[in-house]
Amino acid sequence: MNQSVITPAQKQQLIEVATIALEGAYAPYSQFRVGAAVLTTTGKIFAGCNVENAAYGLSMCAERNAIANAIIGEGSDKMKLKAIAVVNAQHLPCSPCGACRQVIWEFGQETEVIFTGNDGWQHLTIKDLLPHGFSL
Ligand code: THU
Repeated sequence: MNQSVITPAQKQQLIEVATIALEGAYAPYSQFRVGAAVLTTTGKIFAGCNVENAAYGLSMCAERNAIANAIIGEGSDKMKLKAIAVVNAQHLPCSPCGACRQVIWEFGQETEVIFTGNDGWQHLTIKDLLPHGFSL
């Protein structure tokens, strides 16, 4: 994306909140700790971390847990995403998985997504990451 919809201070704050959140990650199986922070259109920030399970398929990503937290805070009918940042403890390139892209799309089709790319922080819109997202 060419133009960021958030300020440099908001970006910094999202990254900081996501970095704190990853300390809470429960990732005994992959050892890959992830934190996410969402900025809603009201200006509030909500955090999430990944939570794994011995039945691997039940593991939940940091992004979806952060979105669930925002829904608790603002209500599912009102909550709209403006931006989401994703960080991992290993500073490895890590963009949201396909399932998370679809869930981000559900709550904000203009959402800016900030994640670790191959060459530092990358900003893309959810439309860039998920062209033709599914809507009902
Ligand atoms: N994971 C996330 O939480 N977010 C991502 O964007 C990528 C993957 C988690 C899921 C699983 O707990 C671990 O990272 C390894 O895949």
